[in-house]
Amino acid sequence: MSFKNLITKKVEFSASHRYWNKNWSEEKNREFYGKSSLPGGHGHNFTLEVTVEGEINPETGMIINLFDLKRIISSVLDDFDHKNLNEDNPHFQNLIPTTENIAKVLWEMVEKKILERDDCNLHRIRVYETDDLFVDYQKC
Ligand code: NI
Repeated sequence: MSFKNLITKKVEFSASHRYWNKNWSEEKNREFYGKSSLPGGHGHNFTLEVTVEGEINPETGMIINLFDLKRIISSVLDDFDHKNLNEDNPHFQNLIPTTENIAKVLWEMVEKKILERDDCNLHRIRVYETDDLFVDYQKC
């Protein structure tokens, strides 16, 4: 039997988004996305969970220094927290900022920073849009 060591850091951020497919008519956008297509957008208090995987360092007893993990997450969230994702975040110029796509973009940004380290790998990104809706992005 083999085991994995995982640690998860949870962070909240506030952002607004609007669902709109530029290639569709206004009617089709309204029909498919409903209120989420309205021009003013709408906000959420999202919760991000970043899970990393690695060996427990025998000297520290930890997979990753938690200060480092917090720093990585907060630098990535600079582009998300208190932002209008459609307007203010360059990743969503041509990508609809659904929770699915938010999780994917966050994976790419966090992974880039985790890859610079030799102590752990990114295991999963989970983004809660509301208490009862969340998206996971992880390797199979
Ligand atoms: Ni929404």
